[in-house]
Amino acid sequence: MQIQQNISLKQYNTFGIEVLAKHFVSVSTLEELNDVLVLKGFPDKLILGGGSNMLLTQNQETLVIHINIKGISITSEDEDYAIVKANAGENWHEFVLWCLKNDLGGIENLSLIPGNVGTAPIQNIGAYGVELKDTFVSCTAVSLENYELRSFSKADCDFGYRNSIFKQELKGKYVITSVTFKLSKKHHKRNVNYGSIAAQLEIMQVTNPNIQDISEAVIQIRQSKLPDPKEIGNSGSFFKNPIISKADYNTLTQSFQNIPSYTISNNEIKIPAGWLIEKAGFKGKRFGDYGVHKNQALVLVNYGNAKGSDILKLSKLIQKTVKRLFNISIEAEVNIL
Ligand code: EPU
Repeated sequence: MQIQQNISLKQYNTFGIEVLAKHFVSVSTLEELNDVLVLKGFPDKLILGGGSNMLLTQNQETLVIHINIKGISITSEDEDYAIVKANAGENWHEFVLWCLKNDLGGIENLSLIPGNVGTAPIQNIGAYGVELKDTFVSCTAVSLENYELRSFSKADCDFGYRNSIFKQELKGKYVITSVTFKLSKKHHKRNVNYGSIAAQLEIMQVTNPNIQDISEAVIQIRQSKLPDPKEIGNSGSFFKNPIISKADYNTLTQSFQNIPSYTISNNEIKIPAGWLIEKAGFKGKRFGDYGVHKNQALVLVNYGNAKGSDILKLSKLIQKTVKRLFNISIEAEVNIL
């Protein structure tokens, strides 16, 4: 373990933005993490996982701590379920593949989501009708204030849509070091209700899908819509889908009859931000090295050497235009740093 100076973060963020970390260290054990946290002289720290949910807009003057703690194990099991603990530095998709290889079900709909296990609970990653919280049991995390390791139950985490306590009251206060899941060993609950999954399985001519088939369907859908960060820098959905009141929705449908929507509760309707951005004319728009993806308007992309500040400027223009056209505020999902 060694603290390095002026390290490029380009390969550590999926947007592929070139900024420097004044101080940088990668830790691969809990002990190393503890040794770094107690170091004097670095009052501010930036915790870096898979770098898949951030937009870096400037050089980082802090100590950047890259969490590279690996390991996956089954901690207990019965006939029906296995309790699986994965350390924070495991790549999320590789963890999903490990579960599929061991025929453990519950996270196959979350295939191919960029990022690491340790950052997945922060925004309660979700896709195709499933969220992390559905299989989450607990996580361990180290306090950045007193360096103590504590466990968080599902209730402690206060999960919501792309949200958790780690994005609210405890933002920047803990480093998640491991996550524990309860996964099915048989009688897998197969979530195929999300429209495009059923359609994709039909294309694949699978009538009675197993969890591996569902994963394959999700992979194919994602590959057709979402850019691979290894080829085109991006951070997945840049914005959250906004939730509006039924009254506002009814007003909106007077001007836009075909607006897609999902009912959340009696008085709340979720609108796909991708639709709003597309209607605002941004889908596929390119401005030099950055722009809006051609197949999914919710994804902003870096074609090469874009600056984080350029992408931030574009995101603000999109927010302003959507507000003007639809009177809806869309909020960034990624962390702006
Ligand atoms: N749509 C458009 N134009 C677009 C994109 C979407 O009109 O360019 C409309 C269509 O009506 C489409 C609907 O939006 O049917 C929904 O699109 P999609 O299924 O692609 O889902 P999304 O709501 O845009 C969310 C998540 C994704 C996740 C998918 C699938 C958020 C912010 N995003 O996107 O998550 O993969 O559902 O479950 O909730 C991520 O968070 O990084 C991410 C990729």
